[in-house]
Amino acid sequence: MSKIHAVITGVGGYVPDYILNNQELSSMMDTSDEWITTRVGIKERHILKDKHLGTSFLAAKAVEDLFAKTQHTPDEIELIICATTTADHIFPSCASMIAGKTGIKNALAFDIQAACSGFITGLELGTAFIQSGKYKKILVIGAEKMSAITDYTDRTTAPLFGDAAAVILLEATSEELGIMDSLIHTDGIGAKHLQMKAGGSANPTSAETLEKREHYIYQEGQAVFKHAVSNMSDVSAQIMEKNNLTKDDVAWLIPHQANLRIIDAVAKRTGVEHDKIIINIERYGNTSAASIPLCIWESESKFKKGDNIILTAFGAGFTWGAVYLKWGY
Ligand SMILES: CC(C)(COP(=O)(O)OP(=O)(O)OC[C@H]1O[C@@H](n2cnc3c(N)ncnc32)[C@H](O)[C@@H]1OP(=O)(O)O)[C@@H](O)C(=O)NCCC(=O)NCCS
Repeated sequence: MSKIHAVITGVGGYVPDYILNNQELSSMMDTSDEWITTRVGIKERHILKDKHLGTSFLAAKAVEDLFAKTQHTPDEIELIICATTTADHIFPSCASMIAGKTGIKNALAFDIQAACSGFITGLELGTAFIQSGKYKKILVIGAEKMSAITDYTDRTTAPLFGDAAAVILLEATSEELGIMDSLIHTDGIGAKHLQMKAGGSANPTSAETLEKREHYIYQEGQAVFKHAVSNMSDVSAQIMEKNNLTKDDVAWLIPHQANLRIIDAVAKRTGVEHDKIIINIERYGNTSAASIPLCIWESESKFKKGDNIILTAFGAGFTWGAVYLKWGY
């Protein structure tokens, strides 16, 4: 019997309309377009302005986009995996909120928390569910309302993040396509460098935590930068080597979009030419778990069946990894 592969057969996405550009940010805090552009590579980010709408709103729009493009219906979906750090509520899950908003009623649905590595972790899980033989149609979503946890009085983090959602449909196939390999790692030493200090069980919300602004992203930028550069570069090179892929065999490299300088380092280490690296950080900023599927959504028309694609991500935890896939259509 031939091996069951999990292949991406469709993609949907959504970004909110409001654009917060570097000029507007510079009027809110002591920063400049020049600093943000040269240090990070971001010009603008999309923000969901409505305070009463959460991540599930963005994700449901992305799922509706996927259904409209692929002609699939909510009834066919058997599993929803939502990678997010900014679920609407601590409970219920964002995945169940998305199911409610999109009319999906026949699916197991849950969230995963692997920060900016959430989407590749979701793909890893989705692939295992497909290969079990029990599930045939799975939505893997990366969705974030990062603006809800971004401190717009802190110039060291405020310019970095944006809101977005994107989703892929993962299906079973006996063809030699889809997810071929993955290398995913975790190192808990990272927690102290990148976290939200309050609002969880170790430090529940109180007047004091609010006063100390501990419900926003806390990041030690330089420490995170160093780990991101070395780990994303190493794991990308490793997955290529493990699968005997030279830089010429790779059609596309899709890195998590946190900092253009990190992306450049991954390009240098793998040798993959710049025109084969998908980059949209300039227009969206770091959308955490949404960043890789957002790149896939925007670049879908460039991909050809059988293209070798490397995805790589790094995030809080620390978590990081790479996925090697063959494009399915
Ligand atoms: C956050 C990040 C962009 C900061 O860039 P950096 O080059 O490391 O900058 P530093 O933190 O060393 O700060 C350099 C100087 O710029 C200043 N600065 C910081 N943010 C600024 C801003 N928005 N505008 C102007 N100046 C700023 C700092 O205060 C510092 O000033 P000083 O030298 O007078 O002390 C970068 O460290 C980074 O991308 N880190 C990794 C993020 C990441 O990958 N996250 C992954 C998971 S989400």
